[in-house]
Amino acid sequence: MAGRPAIFVTRILPDAVTARLQRDYRATLNPDDRAIGGPELTAGAVGHDALLISSREAMTADTLAALPASIRVIATCSVGFEHIDLVAAKARGIVVTNTPDVLTDATADLAMLLILGAARRAGEGERLVRSDSWHGLGLAEMLGRQVSGKRLGILGMGRIGRALAKRARGFDMIVHYSNRRRLPPELEQSATFHADPDAMLPCCDVLSINCPASAETRGFLNAQRIARLPDGAIVVNSARGAIVDDDALIAALRSNKLFAAGLDVYENEPRIHPDYRTLPNVFLLPHLGSATLETRNAMGFKCLDNLDAVFAGRQPPDRLV
Ligand code: 8YV
Repeated sequence: MAGRPAIFVTRILPDAVTARLQRDYRATLNPDDRAIGGPELTAGAVGHDALLISSREAMTADTLAALPASIRVIATCSVGFEHIDLVAAKARGIVVTNTPDVLTDATADLAMLLILGAARRAGEGERLVRSDSWHGLGLAEMLGRQVSGKRLGILGMGRIGRALAKRARGFDMIVHYSNRRRLPPELEQSATFHADPDAMLPCCDVLSINCPASAETRGFLNAQRIARLPDGAIVVNSARGAIVDDDALIAALRSNKLFAAGLDVYENEPRIHPDYRTLPNVFLLPHLGSATLETRNAMGFKCLDNLDAVFAGRQPPDRLV
């Protein structure tokens, strides 16, 4: 129906979100549900007022420059926004919104799952049962590591890092963190602050990466920094793959410098470094961080709240630029 703003939607959304989207907008859906970019995206955007995208659609300066002038707003169904050139979007007068807060619990749960999965060898255990190779474990077999009493270092103490800290305290872990700014005591909750992330590394029986990907954090966990971790440490990443140097992590898992790793995010996902698949001591998940029905509904509704605000001439609640 003419009159309602036209939204170009790059990915399939949960049913309840799609229903509201189609009720309130003219929506062009992508039934293939595959990440699209470049010319395909800019051609698809013709005749639309807004884009509703995921973190898999790279909105580079070139793509933004090629968008039709009708595009007023880009709503990304993600908290991360490193896939969008905000400077270029702002220069073109395009409003950009994201979906903070609503995925905090789901992502923190997932980070805890990675810690437990890596420490308790859950991937190996599952493969053993599935392959019908479980013939009764000996008392010295499949021994994982206890998380209680261990030091958890959280790199990036934003909303998700703090929610992970809360969960980890429930498992009797001792929380350390490194963040650009020290948190006030009510948020710090007695966690030990390290202004210099490198200084925190020797205190990490478990290191959890929870900071955004940026020019500053890209490649942070390299061979030199892994060497600073205690022998037998565990590394988990539920933030962005680009923060980890894959070759260095793989070498440390192979040499058993690290006991294990748990990964939900990867450089160039879903085409992950193939060596990860060959290592028994890495617990691998397919970027499930926010993938619960409740959270994905809330993320989708947040996108729509933001679009509603823009088209009603109001300030969108989650405006990035
Ligand atoms: C999503 C995420 O799975 O919000 C983010 O930044 O990485 C995840 O919640 C993904 O971005 C879907 O767009």
